[in-house]
Amino acid sequence: MKITLTVNGETREADVWGGESLLYALRERLGLPGSKNACEQGECGSCSVLLDGTLVCACLVLAAQADGHEVVTVEGLAVDDRLHRVQEAFLEAGAVQCGFCTPGLVVATVDLLERIPSPSDDEVREALSGNLCRCTGYQKIFDAVRAAARA
Ligand code: FES
Ligand code: FES
Repeated sequence: MKITLTVNGETREADVWGGESLLYALRERLGLPGSKNACEQGECGSCSVLLDGTLVCACLVLAAQADGHEVVTVEGLAVDDRLHRVQEAFLEAGAVQCGFCTPGLVVATVDLLERIPSPSDDEVREALSGNLCRCTGYQKIFDAVRAAARA
């Protein structure tokens, strides 16, 4: 089936099969590999994207469900080669090790700061609780979120 959706501000079309995930369509059909596929079960958050402004796991959304809707991926956050302040903060805080969790954490942080510009530590913990990182121990990620909130 053909779907038409807006991805990072551009109208895109894709030929997908009925059971295909939005994550697969983004990565394999639309050339956007920034959203990572780590568990494909909604457990890790590495595939986090915004669907009509709501944070979702792209592995749990059918591509067909995104037909006619708006998706923002990590690739859509930088503007004119300028990184988003959340991306800058992750870099500067050293919150990136292997980087596999980073796109999802960045998108989840952008979503958090849109909703709560100055989150408490508990609000940060709750907002990022669906994003697993195997490398950093989370401290530097928390530092990055606080720095992005201040920026
Ligand atoms: S790949 Fe989607 S939540 Fe892990
Ligand atoms: S930096 Fe490796 S999983 Fe988070």
